[in-house]
Amino acid sequence: MKIFVDTANIEEIREAVSWGIVQGVTTNPTLVSKEGRPFKELVEEICSIVDGPISVEVTATDAEGMVEEGREIASWHPNIVLKIPMGIEGIKAVKRLSTEGIKTNVTLIFSPNQALLAAEAGATYASIFVGRLDDIGQDGMQVVAQALQIYRNYSFSTEIIVASVRHPMHILRAGEMGAPVVTAPFKVLEAMFKHPLTDIGLQRFLADWEKLKNLMK
Ligand code: G3P
Repeated sequence: MKIFVDTANIEEIREAVSWGIVQGVTTNPTLVSKEGRPFKELVEEICSIVDGPISVEVTATDAEGMVEEGREIASWHPNIVLKIPMGIEGIKAVKRLSTEGIKTNVTLIFSPNQALLAAEAGATYASIFVGRLDDIGQDGMQVVAQALQIYRNYSFSTEIIVASVRHPMHILRAGEMGAPVVTAPFKVLEAMFKHPLTDIGLQRFLADWEKLKNLMK
């Protein structure tokens, strides 16, 4: 499984990358706006920290505008993947950009059929927002399971990103299903490391080691 961090915060990205298990970054306009910095400068700094796919979202709403804006953003760094919102205009833009060899990540996917359309258009990634589905009483991970099955049936090369992750159980279920990519907020990734028995076990090992050191004195 590839793990991406879902943030535009430089400190979080630096820290997560230092762990050695994060391979990419996903951002969106909300995450970027929280940083209160010039867009291009922020994206370029992220690209200088992470040597992997960095998803950056377009804000144009028509296909022509998305393609134009997308080409400009993609020219900033070779690792940039354009995040394009699901919809007729978005899918038209993805088809054109993918034909030009520009990588895309179709965002705001909430159904298996939307994931199918992203793959048909040649998207590199398809982001399924599992947390937001759970929020309205639908099983987000069920949509991931259905989309994975469709992709397997037709050997699509588009990779599903399990996105809008809220807790480590989303990542566990993604792993059990064989989802190729999960993008998670910094805090959720951090929580994956933790288990109370790990802490207790380590305390005991260190205390026993201290006892031995005292005996050897
Ligand atoms: O990657 C998608 C993510 O940024 C959306 O997450 O928590 O706003 O639903 P959330």
